[in-house]
Amino acid sequence: MIFFNKKKKIEKEQKINIDRSRVPQHVAIIMDGNGRWAKERNLPRAMGHKAGVETIREVVKECNRLGIKYLTLYAFSTENWKRPSEEVNSLMRLLVEYLRNEFEELNSNNVVINHIGDISKLPKTCEDELISAYERTKNNTGVVMNLALNYGGRAEIITAIKNIVDDSKNGKITSKDIDEQIISKYLFTANMPDPDLIIRPSGEQRISNFLLWQCAYSEFWYSNINWPDFKPEHLHRAIYDYQNRDRRFGGIK
Ligand code: FPP
Repeated sequence: MIFFNKKKKIEKEQKINIDRSRVPQHVAIIMDGNGRWAKERNLPRAMGHKAGVETIREVVKECNRLGIKYLTLYAFSTENWKRPSEEVNSLMRLLVEYLRNEFEELNSNNVVINHIGDISKLPKTCEDELISAYERTKNNTGVVMNLALNYGGRAEIITAIKNIVDDSKNGKITSKDIDEQIISKYLFTANMPDPDLIIRPSGEQRISNFLLWQCAYSEFWYSNINWPDFKPEHLHRAIYDYQNRDRRFGGIK
């Protein structure tokens, strides 16, 4: 039986043969389906989020192992404040717990713990932990994990426009300077490549205000698996499918 399972595992790994020299530079994930995962098990929603953290742990490790440079995880949107305060609070607690419990392991694996979004509106402990985690890992050379928190694509674009207007008043920029590169520099993801691959589990097929500017030419990959059930083999499948797509960026081959 053990032999049989081992054989099956090897066959599965062989089937999904991703090309390690062509992995996407930037993978972004909408971590959806935690609530449904919990509901199916008659558990409180918070347990679904907790199980989702286990998936984060495995996925970050795998992205790092594969040499992916950026991994953006949509953890809390500007719209998620509409959820009951009990759920919001439990997510914030989970975030602090995650940063404290996982710091050593992430740091020893060379991960940069970065964030995108307006974290000044998060509880002070969350903001402090995020800033401190970034400060202590910013010189690492492994995967940059962007935790998208109080993040919304529209809010990000509004902030960028406000900053551009301010800089034009200060004489730092004129309308002639504005092009796609300049706009990108005013976003939270400044100096990062746009996501090559955006993954959304749980069966939903929408972008939900995630990386609106940056996703112009991203490849999308959907699956019915809820986030807590998402495993490195699903990540491999997504990357394999991505590698078999024909990206033309509006041109022709
Ligand atoms: C969406 O699933 C998930 C979220 C809004 C939160 C994602 C958060 C985590 C995975 C854990 C906390 C993050 C960190 C970084 C520690 P949903 O709750 O909308 O699921 P549903 O659509 O099934 O209800």
